[in-house]
Formats: sequence, structure tokens, C-alpha cells
Amino acid sequence: MAAPGSARHGGPSFLLGNLAAVVSPAGDAAPLRGGDLGRVDVLAPAAIAIVDGAISAVGSAADLRAEHDGLDQVDGHGCIAIPGLVDCHTHPAFGGDRAGEFDLRAQGADYERIHAAGGGIAATVAATRLLGRAGLQAAVGRHLGWMAAHGTTTAEGKSGYGLDRDTELASLAAIAGSHPIEAVPTYLGAHSVPPEFGDGDKYLDFVLAQVLPAAAAVAEAADVFLERGAFSAEQAERYLRAAAGHGLALRIHGDQFTEAGAIELAIALGARSVDHLEATGPAGVQRLAASDVAGVLLPVAALYLRRSMPPARALIDCGAIVALATDFNPGSAYCDSLPVVMTLACTQLGMSAGEALSATTVNAAWVLGRADRLGRLAPGYDADIVLLDAPDWRHVAYHLAGRDIAAVYKRGRLITGVRPRTEASQKRNGRRSGSDPDS
Ligand code: NIG
Ligand code: FE
Repeated sequence: MAAPGSARHGGPSFLLGNLAAVVSPAGDAAPLRGGDLGRVDVLAPAAIAIVDGAISAVGSAADLRAEHDGLDQVDGHGCIAIPGLVDCHTHPAFGGDRAGEFDLRAQGADYERIHAAGGGIAATVAATRLLGRAGLQAAVGRHLGWMAAHGTTTAEGKSGYGLDRDTELASLAAIAGSHPIEAVPTYLGAHSVPPEFGDGDKYLDFVLAQVLPAAAAVAEAADVFLERGAFSAEQAERYLRAAAGHGLALRIHGDQFTEAGAIELAIALGARSVDHLEATGPAGVQRLAASDVAGVLLPVAALYLRRSMPPARALIDCGAIVALATDFNPGSAYCDSLPVVMTLACTQLGMSAGEALSATTVNAAWVLGRADRLGRLAPGYDADIVLLDAPDWRHVAYHLAGRDIAAVYKRGRLITGVRPRTEASQKRNGRRSGSDPDS
């Protein structure tokens, strides 16, 4: 398995001052469960000292200036800093689109029936196989750029729309390539049985012998779609055990339409997460809550496919590890914005804004094995920072598809953003000058 990327690449050093507030999930534990999920620390006003792309201190501007005498000063323009968002479940490696299928569903067509009839995932597989290496790189780069514009500084990215050796390996290489944000490759070899096989067991024979060894050299995790019409629990177990043998962390798409044993299998194999959970009932909630497997909730997929929302409140109240993600993909969730997911969490899942923040930062980082350096604004963490030009940090969830993100820093580098631009920020600040060390 590829080692999780290291933070320490000698990024820039500067003092980010004039921040109306610095907001971060409380404490230093990970993952957060139960009542701890919603606790956030708000320090106002504040500044952040950044040394070599990592946070060295968070405190009052006066204190930090005294302690970090030689550092360049960058004006935060009265913005509010929150941690860079972590999208722990995305499918960025695909060609084509499914706008036609989207419209058919709008007129009553059913996602699973389209899939069974050879559309759905198979349609995207056909389009993705035509892209080639350069086309895949361009597609992944474009999609990660969309995510970055919405505050995502780290995104997991799955293969799974190639399902032949070359396209799967090219997908993983494209995700693992160099990007302004951190991309974490997951081998979703068992996404669907491709048309040239027609039989899941024979396809897995091929995957295990011909693809997994090479995929495991690039990917950090393996994922499977455990669902009627995709892979059975037995097939998923075979695939995941082989992946674990290659050192990969394990993920499962499970309980999307039916409860088919995903939670039990994830617990038995020590998987990092079960993702979806729209169909999970009370017994599954209890089982997951008693385990160290995270439930990754994907409310956009439920919205797009008109399913009931996953039981977020029950999971959190029972003590389960809960994270949120976009599930960005061309079929069930064409959404690259974690702030939109946070809005859905607050309006559809019964989660507080603090819970939504922790579920898209520290807990999502934990799912990706990076909670020691991602998901918080605190000393020792990477300087992955989103600046909000808003009067209250909760606008990131409150303002549906809003334009409150003024700047995004990855390891101290400004990767996207414009200067704060509203009248409110001008009034709050008085001054608007300042320089970015990297821009
Ligand atoms: O997570 N459920 C399986 N995979 C994706 C959707 C794939 C597609 O429709 O293209 C998901 O929702
Ligand atoms: Fe997915």
C-alpha cells in the first residue's frame, strides 16, 4: 500500500492575522463520537502562525507577533478561519456525464432498474474507457479543482469506472498524481461487474490476479459496492480479504438500498468505514455504534435518488463514528461541495453545525488515516485553512450553495480564492492591503 502522504514539504511561513475568529473542532482526540462531535472551539479575534506549511501557534495577534518576530504578515481581512475540509468519499475519475439519466429519473425512472438494464455505472464505464491516460488526468484535475473552490483541501478519490486493468490503473495514477489539494487514491475494483464478464466471481478472479497487486502499489484503500445487483457479501469478503493482504485499508459501499451484511462484514474485517447507510435499521445502528467502523453519510446521494436520509441522529446519539462526504460521481451525486453537504446535514440529517464541521474535518480525516495532521486548526496540524467572509462561521452551512469562501490554503499555500469582497468585510476591517507569500 502507498504510505499516507507526508505533510512536511517545507511550505511557506507567515503570520495570518486580522482574523475575526479561528474555529476548530474541540480537543485533540480522533475520531469524535457522541456529544464530542458537536463541540467546537472559537477563538476571537485571532491569528495563526504558520511555519513550513504547518500551524505552529493559534492565538491573539499581539501574542503571536511577539513570539514570531521574523514572520511575514498576511492580512486575513477580518475573515473567519475554519479547517480545510476533507472529502472522504468521492469518485473523480470518470468520463462523460449522466444528465440524460438524471432527467429520466426526474420523470420517474428508477436508478436500480437503469443499472440492471445496462445503463448507470456501465454507461460511465464505457465513457471512461475512451478517455485514455491524459483524458483521465484532465478529468480528475478538473474535478478536484471544483472541490477545492468549495473549501476541500483533501479528497479521497476512487477508481471504479474503468473495471479493466489499464483504465483502473490509469484512474489511480491520475488521482495519485500531483494536485493543488491532497488526493488519496482508493481502488474501487469491485464497483460493478463489467459487461465483458457478466459473472461477479469470474470478474473477481481477474481482479485479484491481474489488477489488485498493481493497484495496491498506488492505492491506500480498497472499496466494494455490496448491494443487490452489484456484489454479494461473500464476494465482497473475498475481494476485501485479498486487498487487506496487500496492506490496503478497507471501505464498503453498503446499506444503500438494502441491508445485505455490509456492517457485519466491515466489523469482522476491521474496515475503516461503511458508506451510505440509507437503508440501515436500528439493529445496524447499534452494531455500528459499538464498533470502530465509521459510518460515512452521503446525503446528496439520498437526495438525488429520492431515498430516505441515513439515520444520522441515531448513529451519533448511540456513539457511532460519523463522517460526511459528497460521494461526488456522475450518477447518484453530481455535487463537489462539502458546504452543500453540511447544509443537508443541518436541514435533513438533524445534525448541528458543529457536528457537520467535525464530520467534514477531523472525522473525515480519521477515515483517511490522517487525523494526526488534518482536520483541525491547532499547533502541529497542516496549515490547511478555509477563510470565510461571513459574520458567523456557521454561514458555511447556513448559506445554501453560498459564496462565503474567500480563500483556501493547502499547507500554507493559497490554492484558490479571491480577496474578501463584501461590504461587511470592509466595514469589519478598515484596511484591505496585505500580501500572500505565495501568490
Ligand atoms: O456511491 N453506489 C455505488 N456507487 C456510486 C454511484 C455510482 C454511479 O451511479 O455512477 C455511489 O453512489
Ligand atoms: Fe460512492
